[in-house]
Parts: sequence; structure tokens; C-alpha cells
Amino acid sequence: MTFDVAAIREQFPILSREVDGKPLVYLDNAATTQKPQCVIDALVDYYSTCNSNVHRGAHRLADEATQRYEGARDIVAGFINADCREEVVWTSGTTEAINVVAHGLAQLLKADDEVLVTEMEHHANLVTWQQACKQAGATLKVAPICDNGELRVDEFEKLLSDNTKLVAFPHVSNSLGTINPVKQLVQLAKKVGAWVLVDGAQGIAHGAVDVRDLGCDFYAFSGHKVFGPTGIGVLWGRKSLLEEWPVWQTGGEMISEVTYQDARWNELPYRLEAGTPHIAGAIGLGEAIRWFSELDFDGMKAHETALMESATRQAEAFEGLTIIGNSPEKTGVLSFVMDAGHPADIGFLLDRQGIAIRTGHHCAEPLMNRLGVPGTARASFSIYNTLEEVDALFAALKKVQMMLA
Ligand code: ALA
Repeated sequence: MTFDVAAIREQFPILSREVDGKPLVYLDNAATTQKPQCVIDALVDYYSTCNSNVHRGAHRLADEATQRYEGARDIVAGFINADCREEVVWTSGTTEAINVVAHGLAQLLKADDEVLVTEMEHHANLVTWQQACKQAGATLKVAPICDNGELRVDEFEKLLSDNTKLVAFPHVSNSLGTINPVKQLVQLAKKVGAWVLVDGAQGIAHGAVDVRDLGCDFYAFSGHKVFGPTGIGVLWGRKSLLEEWPVWQTGGEMISEVTYQDARWNELPYRLEAGTPHIAGAIGLGEAIRWFSELDFDGMKAHETALMESATRQAEAFEGLTIIGNSPEKTGVLSFVMDAGHPADIGFLLDRQGIAIRTGHHCAEPLMNRLGVPGTARASFSIYNTLEEVDALFAALKKVQMMLA
């Protein structure tokens, strides 16, 4: 079966809009993906037909909203192959999911404990652990990368010790596109008995994620990076761990019994979900995952590989352009700098041609310092991008080069 990009594009209304009279070429998918019509419809339908709070009401709308909301949890649990639906905790996104774990970890860490991260972290998977370690007087260690953006697995292994309490790393780097060898890293971490959190923000939209197969303890991702709404995300964690994890926020729904003096916590997943949740967001994410999981993943992978290969080939041949991040295992991201000008100028001049990219440090300032660049221009691809759009990027970059000369 061929992967029908044209048919997929038709399902995304925004992709047919123009910017200043030029067709939109949307290459900022690592920041957020666009939404298919079915996800937009799911949001509108929920608000139009059964908007209500969940779990709390004694009426038809509350029942219907709860069914859709909890049904979405089932869809996510099935997609990532969770052991059970209770392991899927709704959060506002990857950042909050990591914060839930880090907040609890800060209470569990002792002074001689260590947390290991990598040099390629997004701030969300760095500052969280930094602060947790500071709070507990524990030590944060950082595994180095090679100049091409690949993790030094040998150094990662050397930094593990019996004191390592938790290891955190990205599935896929948001700035460089590097795909980390998750299973191998998990196996190494497990030799010293460390817990493993995988930042899946960029990994979730590039294929099937099987948390049981990966062997990690926590996997965090955002709905909006996988064709769902913003403001909703998932913390998947092993049930045995989440059941005991220190609670995050307190308030309604996360309790089972309250007196003026004390409170008892609810069962999973609710003990980690205080307050009225983002109901529409969860329903929208469920629909996004349902839609995404019905795609032909082999065809999708082949298409994404073709996009990356074309982009890399053209970038390598482009005089005055340097690719930042050349890991042999890479997906979705082409980060680069140009002799002609600052990344911010490149972004601005591409936008004038209808091409949307992201520029800057990509929430990975220490990584940019490590690589010796102030930031990069980053084109990031999704399943609906075409080879013609990759060509359009490079044609536009030629113009940018001339404009900046
Ligand atoms: N983390 C998102 C990015 O890389 C916002 O652009």
C-alpha cells in the first residue's frame, strides 16, 4: 500500500491556507503538528453536544462526557501498549508529565543519589531534574554527545552507578532529530537499578511506541505533537510506581476521603489528576491517536525517510550552509546555520515566502552552547509534508542567501 500524502493533506484544513498570497509550507512540526478535521470535529462535537464536567455529575451530559473522556484514555493506553488504562495519567503536556515525576522524585532522593540526563535535553527534561536534585542535595550528571549529536553511549554507561536513582533522556532530540537507542539505554540503566523516564515529545508522532517493549518506567508526551490539541498530554508510568509516587497537585478528584485535618488519596490514575481536567483536550487527543494509529506506519516511515534524505542531500550540497546534528539515526528535523546570516533572519525571510520554520535555541540552550552555535534554523517535517515542500525550502533559502549577501 502506498502512503497517500495527498489524501492525508486533504484532511488538514490549515494546509490549504496561504501566507501573504503564497501557499503555506509548514515545516515547524517539532514545535506543534497541525490538526486533521476529525480532531477539530471531535472538539466541536464535545462542546456542542455534551459539554459537562466528568465523573461528578448525576446527569446525561456528564455521563456522555465521562464516557468520551475515559474512552480516550483507553485509546491512548492501547496505542502505547500500556499494561492497563490506570497507567495513563492526563497532564497538560510533556513538561507537566516530567514535572509530576520530578516533583515526586525530589521527595524520594537522598543526598548521595544521582540523576543522569544527556547533553541533548530540552529544558523540560533538564531544569526539572536540576531543581529536584538541588532540593534534595543530590547530584545531576550529564552524559556527553558526539559533535554530530549522537549520544556517547560508552560515556553514558560510565556515568551510571549504584547511586543513580533515575535516568532521563529524549526518545528523539527536538533540536537535532537524533533518535536515541532507547532500549539499549534502558537496559544499561536497569543494570544499576535506576528508574528511566523517556521524554517522548518528539518520538510519539514518528511511529508506534510500545512502552512495555521499551522497558522504561515513565514515558511522557504531548497531544499537540501528535495531531491532537494543545494543553493535553500523557504521563505513562508503571502502575506499581505510580501507585506509590508522591502526589503532585492536591484538590478535587485526587482524593478518596477528606477531613478538616487530613486527606486520603484516590486510586490511579486520579490520584495524580487534581481538579477539572482538560476534557475536550483528552477527547481530541483520543481522536488524534485513533486517526494516527490507522495510518500505514511502514509507508509513513518510508515517506519520512524520503523527506529527510532529500533535505539532507540538498543541505549538504548547499554552499554556506552547515547542518547541525548528523546522527546516523535521525528523524524529522533538519537543523542548520548559514554563513549568510543569523538564524532569526533566516526564519524571518523564509516566512516572507510562506515557509514556517523555528529558529533559536529550541529550549535547549546548554546544547547550543555545547555545539558552539547561538541557535539554529530548524525545519521539521511531518507525515503531510511533501518532497516538493522540501524543494521549496531550498529554493527559498537560495533567495534568503542572496537577500542577506
Ligand atoms: N519543544 C517544542 C520545540 O522543539 C516547542 O519546538
